[in-house]
Parts: sequence; structure tokens; C-alpha cells
Amino acid sequence: MDNLNSRMPSYFRIGAATSAWQIEGSSHLRGRSIWDDFSQIPGKIVDGAQADPASDHFNRWEEDLDLLSWLGVDSYRFSISWPRILHDGVGTVDPAGLAFYDRLIDRLLLRNIEPVITIYHWDLPSALEDKGGWNWAGIGDAFAQYTEILARKFVDRTAMWATLNEPWCSAFLGYADTVMAPGRGDGAAGLEAAYRLMVAHGRSMEVLRQYNAKNAGTVLNLTTVIAEDAGAESAARHIDGLQNRIWLDLLAGRGIPQDIIEGTRHISDWSFVDESELKSISAPIDWLGVNYYTPTRIASIPHQGEAKDNENHTHSLSFPGVPPFLSVPRPPHTDMGWEVHPESLTTTLQQTQERLPGVPIYITENGGAFPDEMVDGSIDDQDRVEYFQTHLDAALKAREAGVDLRGYFAWSLLDNVEWAEGLTKRFGLFHVNYQTQKRTAKRSAYFFRELLARRKPESDRIG
Ligand code: FCB
Repeated sequence: MDNLNSRMPSYFRIGAATSAWQIEGSSHLRGRSIWDDFSQIPGKIVDGAQADPASDHFNRWEEDLDLLSWLGVDSYRFSISWPRILHDGVGTVDPAGLAFYDRLIDRLLLRNIEPVITIYHWDLPSALEDKGGWNWAGIGDAFAQYTEILARKFVDRTAMWATLNEPWCSAFLGYADTVMAPGRGDGAAGLEAAYRLMVAHGRSMEVLRQYNAKNAGTVLNLTTVIAEDAGAESAARHIDGLQNRIWLDLLAGRGIPQDIIEGTRHISDWSFVDESELKSISAPIDWLGVNYYTPTRIASIPHQGEAKDNENHTHSLSFPGVPPFLSVPRPPHTDMGWEVHPESLTTTLQQTQERLPGVPIYITENGGAFPDEMVDGSIDDQDRVEYFQTHLDAALKAREAGVDLRGYFAWSLLDNVEWAEGLTKRFGLFHVNYQTQKRTAKRSAYFFRELLARRKPESDRIG
């Protein structure tokens, strides 16, 4: 622990993260989102969990701020529910929705915790999905208007802004594949969504700049793609293209990667790409958030043709145009089946810095689901503690190798609805009993509390 502490520079922020749909509940007090609709389709969420009650954060937010204070974090990353602010995504502002986040921000500041806002963490208002969602040409305007409402109200009190969370998931798991909302299963729609999400990012940044927002950036889920054999190399390149390069190239002003345009020609002609929008997407950002959990390790499969989703071809729909491949995560695995491989966090950060030079990086999510067991009222999640320790170490190694890494946010503050996995997967530092809503600190929460308490005073830390 001291080894980790002494390697953190004075400006290194440590925080915890959540997202609105996963924790808030109280869906009757806001408009509908695509995740409300999706979760009501039988079979989409493994245990049938829906938006309510989730972790009942909408009612228990003060108690949850107590958890943050107990941990001693510098920052709290949370998302704002678009349909709580604008029930239909555009039009009339719901003052009660705005007031909820207003209070949250004020109370965070009173506790000396910096508010880090994610503007969009997947809960698109259903009324906008009806217009075409992330394929609708007007979505950039709608997102800019929504951003402006938030900026006008919160700009003076927000430490960091993220326009989007993980557009790869929105576009490719939600539009190309069927495993996340809205579950379209249409590769062409996925590619267009990827582009329009980034257009919306650019428009949102323009608004944040007009309002002189501090620290405006965006959050991507990036990873290291590992081909286990030479036959998997072209799939690995395509996956790297859609998972990592497309976003970083757009941000860096390099446009859509040429190999991706070519490798998806049979799916999309990319005629929606517009030069002036490309320019707006590549306007400078103040920081980039990297969400990292696991590497993507793949191998070749013995026969030809486009990959199809079955037990051997995992999620190929999520990478439109990808040649056949096998997903081969090595043990140890988390409860999600995700390979634990901290070395890939180091390489992911290094690659990211090379592809988008000069932009400070934050790890905006990192953590693991493990089969927590409550024994005599406590949860000894040594596996999660180890995950955090080894990944913090890997992150600091990247920093020591020259990556401009400014901070680390644990996913997640508390157990919550893990999207399609419902309540079956737990990522929290705090356990939530969904019957009573009681929060219990896991051993991993004690780990962070101690780490934060034992930090050297700012003046003594390396800067
Ligand atoms: C990320 C999401 C976050 C959470 C973690 C486990 O992809 O941003 O909401 O579900 O995975």
C-alpha cells in the first residue's frame, strides 16, 4: 500500500464512480429511457432486474455521500440521467430532476469531494430512440441542448466533465449487437451510431467551451487486443480498429481509420461522414478517461466466412465486419468471465498516449465483479482487493514509463444493476442488500479508505 502511495504524484485524484440508471431507481419521477424499455423485454436482463429499485440512490443519496466521505475520496464520478432533466430528451426541463443533481453537487462540495459529471451514460430518452436514436441526424443538436442546460446550472461547481461514457458499448453492443439497449442487431446502424455519438461529443464540447467549463473531456473503454496466433491477426486489427483506434483517430483529427472503412464497406458506405463534423469532433479535449477491465484475447478458428455469434464466436456482432475469431480469455477470470491481466492496463495506457499525444489521462473506471459472500455481516473480498492493488500498480507503471496519468476511479462505489447482468454481478466497494437497501463496506472499501488515509500530505508527494 505504501508502495502505491509513494508513487502517486500530489495531483493524482482517487475517486469512485457510478452511473444514474444503475443506482438511482425512482424511475416514475423521470422520463423513460432505452434501458427501461430494454429491461422490460423478457430475457434481455438475466435475472429480470429493471430500473427499480436498483440501489435506491435517488432516496438514499445522502447516505451514499457518507460512504464517499468515509472512504476519503477526492472525487466522485456520477452520471446525470438525461430523461430526469428532459423527460423526452428535448423540450421542457424538469426542475425536480435538475434540483436532485444540484443538491448532490452542493453536498459533495461541502464534503470537499469534487463532482465529476458524466453527461451521457447510456440512458437515452426513449422519445429520442423513437426518432432513430444515435442514428438520427438531429441527435447532436439534442445532445448540445441537453449539455447547455447542465452547463448553465453546474459549470461553476463541476471539477470535470465527461461528454460520453464508452461510446463503443452504446454503438456496438446496443446498435450493432443485441446485448445492450436498444438491442438493434444491425451492423450498419452500429457504425453510424459510433459516428453520431462522436458528433454529439463534439457538439457537447463546443457548448462546454462556451460556458468555460473546467476540464472537459470524454470517456472511452479501451483495451489491449492480443492475438494468440498469426491466423487471428487480421481479426485483432479489426477489433483494435473498432474498440480503440476509431475513437482515438476521430479525437486526434485522423478521421475514420482507412482499414475500418475498407473492412466494413460491405456493411456501410459511411456516407453520413461530414468534413465539418469531423473537425468539431477533433477539437482539443482537456483530458481523456480510460475505462479498463480486461484485455481482448483472441485466437483463430479453423473455418472461413464471416463470424456468427454462437458459443465459439463470441460477440462478433459487436465488431461489424470482423473476420472469424475465437474469444479466449485466460484464467484467472472475474465473475463476469473477464480475464484478469493488469499488464494490459499498462500497455493500454501507453498505446492510448501514443495515439492521442498530449492529452492527460484518467482511469475513469476499473474494478471487478467477484462472488462476494457475506459471513457474519462482513465481506472479505480479497480477490477484489488484489484486483485493485495490481491494477493500481499497473497504472502507476504506465505513469512511470511516461504516460501523463492524473488519477484513478474505482468502479463502483456500491453494488448496482450491472446492465444485462442485472443484480447478479457485484462490482461495489459497498455491498447492497437489495431487500433492505443496507450498505455494508467490503474489505475492498477498507483498502481504499486506508490507501487514502495513508497518503502523504500533498506537499510531500512527488509532483
Ligand atoms: C462499464 C460501464 C459501467 C459498468 C462497468 C462494469 O462498461 O461503463 O457502467 O457496467 O462496465
